Amino acid sequence: MLLRTELRLALAQLLGFMARGEHIAHACALRQASFAPSDKIRRFLQEQARQELMHARVFTTAAAWLAPRASQCAAQLVPLEHYHVLLQAALARKDISESLLAEQVIFESLGEVILHRLVAGLARHKLPVHHVCRRMLVQEHAHHAFGDRLLERAIDTGAVSREGLRVRGQEYLLLLETILARLANLLAVLEEDASTYFTETRRHLPDWLTADVSAVARVTPLAAGNDLLPQ
Ligand SMILES: [Fe+2]
Ligand SMILES: [Fe+2]
Repeated sequence: MLLRTELRLALAQLLGFMARGEHIAHACALRQASFAPSDKIRRFLQEQARQELMHARVFTTAAAWLAPRASQCAAQLVPLEHYHVLLQAALARKDISESLLAEQVIFESLGEVILHRLVAGLARHKLPVHHVCRRMLVQEHAHHAFGDRLLERAIDTGAVSREGLRVRGQEYLLLLETILARLANLLAVLEEDASTYFTETRRHLPDWLTADVSAVARVTPLAAGNDLLPQ
């Protein structure tokens, strides 16, 4: 299957971004497993970590196949690295609730949306990896549902409050929006709209997390340019 160069580069960079996200998810699940409150939760997180590493390998391989050098640019997506730093701080405090909110709930929601739309796009272009991505989508959905369940349980037992989590979540949501703004030009090459990604990601999130935030997606390409596309 031949793709025009611009499309191939953009797809490779998006896959490179996904690979970086999977590595972050892998490291997070592994760290969460080290202080999990029960054996059952630890086993799930260890399995999640294994799956995230496999996802990272799939995306890295696919990106390198499409465009070896272009995919390396993904590591330079600054707001994604800021997101990672925040998440690492929560993990260092062994704050299981904040890490679940940031990783399994918010970050996995974005991952699910990108993957879902990627599967549709790959199928349209008859690219072979879409079957693998479909399987990954099922796993990502399970990770997200696990995070939702655990957070609801923590809220029910009074270990955390919705308000506390909502306030803490705003910084992650803002970074999520910035990540998508940085990806907007790249997504546009793929005939995708970053605002739609943000709106769809919000739809996957609990109402209590997004209740006070404007429902209007504000994602527009940043004037400073795109971290990923060649300038
Ligand atoms: Fe994943
Ligand atoms: Fe995941």
